[in-house]
Amino acid sequence: MAASPPVAPEPVVASGSALAFAPGKLILFGEHAVVYGHPAVALAVDRGTTVSLVAVDGPTRIVAADVEDPRLLPALCTILPSEGLGVTLRSTLPVGRGMGSSAALAVALVRAWARWQGRSLDLDEIHQAGFQVERVFHGNPSGVDHAVSARGGAVCYWRRPPGPEIRAVPVAPLPLVVLDTGRAGDTGVQVAGVASRRPGVDPLLAAIGALALAQLPALAQGDLPSLGAAMRENHRLLQGIGVSTPALDALVALALAHGALGAKLAGAGGGGVVVALVPEPGPLLAAAAAAGVDAFPVGVHPSQER
Ligand code: MEV
Repeated sequence: MAASPPVAPEPVVASGSALAFAPGKLILFGEHAVVYGHPAVALAVDRGTTVSLVAVDGPTRIVAADVEDPRLLPALCTILPSEGLGVTLRSTLPVGRGMGSSAALAVALVRAWARWQGRSLDLDEIHQAGFQVERVFHGNPSGVDHAVSARGGAVCYWRRPPGPEIRAVPVAPLPLVVLDTGRAGDTGVQVAGVASRRPGVDPLLAAIGALALAQLPALAQGDLPSLGAAMRENHRLLQGIGVSTPALDALVALALAHGALGAKLAGAGGGGVVVALVPEPGPLLAAAAAAGVDAFPVGVHPSQER
């Protein structure tokens, strides 16, 4: 019997275009704690990043982008071939503000490249490939950001060896408003800062994880008063681990003074955004506008799980 021929690598289509979108995220409960294996609850949001690929002569390069970041091209090159692709990046997310802009880029890039090759990827493949891209931005991310970006909807996420546990969780409609400090936070710096404050902050990290898990019934039922109280408590714990700032605390106070049931920083902190749970957002949006603060309602990007 003749030996089977070696399997050739999949050919890369040398012309055409491919486009993919991935949503950003908000962590409702559990940032930083999730780095240490505690659960976090995150939502995919109705803002995100679109990556489009076209054939070009010469090296792969960015042909248009909404943002400038020296890490962008190295991040793209973890996935793309070094020659022949022109990449356009468009985003409706504020960048570096804790809304998962780099994870959305990673997931959209992985999907666009798979489409270019005519392949379909399952969620685990997207997760693995997205991790490589995210690492260029955040060194050692927990993976929650690109897990929720890939899946949509809401997830409860545990970082576990050898791989994460990710559960899609039901969430009732939530009236959420994002308030932007206008300043980027550096996730790597904030994560390293928390690491340097261990083991002293370990009980606070454990309390954040327990708080996240305890909110699953309230999320499913839309129990807004309970969720609001938990968001206030989560913010207090995040202050305790040293990742809030006066600007974030002021936005939490602004939200609570204008009808929010709860508010907390969302993401790594050190800058970035606050998420507020506010059944009647009008007064808060007006107060934010009067204070020169960019504030906007967010919805949930639907779950992609079948
Ligand atoms: C960043 O969106 C969330 C952090 O928990 C870091 C991570 O999970 O990789 C601060």
